[in-house]
Amino acid sequence: MDTHQAKEKITKLREELNEYNYEYYVLDRPTISDHEYDEKMRELIQLENEHPELKTEDSPSQRVGGEPLDEFVKVQHKLPMLSLGNAFNETDLRDFDRRVREGSDQPVSYVCELKIDGLAVSLTYENGKFVRGATRGDGKTGEDITHNLKTVKSIPLKLQQDETIEVRGEAFMPKRSFDSLNDARAQKGEELFANPRNAAAGSLRQLDPKIAAKRNLDIFIYSVGEWQGEHLNAHSERLDYLKQLGFKTNPEWKRCETIDQVIDYVKHWTEDRPHLSYEIDGIVIKVDQIDVQDALGFTAKSPRWAIAYKFPAEEAITKLVDIELSVGRTGVVTPTAILEPVKVAGTTVKRASLHNEDLIQEKDIRIGDTVVIKKAGDIIPEVVRVITEKRTEDLEPFQMPTHCPECGSDLVRLEEEVALRCINPNCPAQLREGLIHFVSRNAMNIDGLGEKVIAQLFKEDLVHTIADLYKLNKEQLLQLERMGEKSVNNLLSAIEKSKENSLERLLFGLGIRYVGSKVADTLAQHFKTIDALMKADKEDLEAIQDIGEKVADSIVRYFQKPQVASLIEELKQLGINTKYNGITMEEITEDSPFAGKTVVLTGKLEVYGRSEAKKKIETLGGKVTGSVSKKTDLLIAGEDAGSKLEKATSLGVEVWDENRFIRVLQEE
Ligand code: IVH
Repeated sequence: MDTHQAKEKITKLREELNEYNYEYYVLDRPTISDHEYDEKMRELIQLENEHPELKTEDSPSQRVGGEPLDEFVKVQHKLPMLSLGNAFNETDLRDFDRRVREGSDQPVSYVCELKIDGLAVSLTYENGKFVRGATRGDGKTGEDITHNLKTVKSIPLKLQQDETIEVRGEAFMPKRSFDSLNDARAQKGEELFANPRNAAAGSLRQLDPKIAAKRNLDIFIYSVGEWQGEHLNAHSERLDYLKQLGFKTNPEWKRCETIDQVIDYVKHWTEDRPHLSYEIDGIVIKVDQIDVQDALGFTAKSPRWAIAYKFPAEEAITKLVDIELSVGRTGVVTPTAILEPVKVAGTTVKRASLHNEDLIQEKDIRIGDTVVIKKAGDIIPEVVRVITEKRTEDLEPFQMPTHCPECGSDLVRLEEEVALRCINPNCPAQLREGLIHFVSRNAMNIDGLGEKVIAQLFKEDLVHTIADLYKLNKEQLLQLERMGEKSVNNLLSAIEKSKENSLERLLFGLGIRYVGSKVADTLAQHFKTIDALMKADKEDLEAIQDIGEKVADSIVRYFQKPQVASLIEELKQLGINTKYNGITMEEITEDSPFAGKTVVLTGKLEVYGRSEAKKKIETLGGKVTGSVSKKTDLLIAGEDAGSKLEKATSLGVEVWDENRFIRVLQEE
């Protein structure tokens, strides 16, 4: 066979195999026998081996798993991958419904979906070809796991249309695959996976794709990420479209008009869940209308237009053998129950949070008691109640200590607080916990500095304050346990890189009371430099939207401390950036053409594309919504604009073509 013939044959085999694959893994309706499939695959692999120049990344033969990687590459998500707020009962669901309806000026319907217990991934297609798959990571940055995702047979390597689109979904391990994997591991004396979710995550976070290829993973796609295509008005329409493109969507979704229908759906699946071939941990409820979604918007972490109902936690009975006390970064002393290990909802539980003294008193929890514990989702297990009938007479009521377990200072209970606090500013536990917070993902995001390393740095007297981190050198780090040349170099460059971070990360990392990541963002955008913020008084702060008295007070008091002023000075000396790196709302001139305007985009935008255009308008102070109404100020209509253009014209809304839009942007 010459190259030309081989090429034709290969193309044909690939098309056929893609189609069979789709029928088998996505539609669950195979049209040929496994034997015939294997034959064709063998033929393809043989031809590709004979003509290596014809090998391509998107060939179905590539699913078997290629060469291992050296390390994972980071991927920036163009649109953040958010998580969802939780509902635990009917009241929470009705509250959600009320908030949604109050925030919307039109009737709302919902789409209910099963909440698949796996891990969220993002898949990118360019001109219909699968080019990249990534984990969610911290929502902003994930890891490139394309090599492993290619082995998941229900992920199309090629779409039914040549779309450029990013989609999101949940990769998971079906119950049966999980059981047989664990059976096999047990036989080999290997450690077992606690649950299908851990097994799926463990499989996808392997450098060697041959492992993932053997693990029978599957996926359901549930949303569209970055996409410049035609606007679809409803989430349900997007689900249909995803299916058309060849993705595997979960068939159990349902559109509901009322919250009562949602609650019925929840009840149905609470009962029926054991019959599914995969694990679910709840129900996701999403507003169906995209323009209502846009109007409701997001909080820092999650959309206001969706919620996750979590199934009730599983309970178990065990013995409480001790109560451990730990000191957090704000000096709060937290008691934790040490338990006789017990299995709950698939994992072994050894510890449970006791929250505070009042809770221990209220439930009268004593060391030696038999207790009921529960585990809700990812949350740390808690003690529900004591089985007093099983209590022996010799058990004493538990007393909280009067002195800090780490530094021995007096503990105080501040007015109106339930917590006991160590107020020694030099308490080593607080400094250590403060540092753990400082390096954490949403703060300075220094990779390679886990709790264990930080604990060692303290033990070896290498760091006492945040500033000390930036003085560490190679020799010092090499002394630490389990730190080789490579990890030391990585760590030092991560520390160095963190110096460039924008101000909001530093502000959040400092651990000022009541300054979470959202407030830190607001402050950084408003003041732009730490110097300006340090000069602000209470009034200046309270004048900012979203900053109340309590927060303002805490910020002023924090920066008044002399040790804080010298810490900031020291950080600057060490080269840490104390300025805001992003764009600020104030830079948007008041006479921006979009300031305060509600804009709708329609048709094909050639130059900027839909999401880029949206971003531009938003940075210039405008709001972009999905559908035309009386509230629309401006419609930007690209090529092939349809019904929206008609509606806008009939309502007398101002309309621009793409050229005018581009001209205006260029003038800005
Ligand atoms: S929608 C912004 N739909 O649950 C909304 N999530 O906290 C993004 N999940 O990280 C999520 N099944 O990993 C959505 N049908 C479903 C889901 C689902 C599982 C996971 C997902 C997400 C988490 C929500």
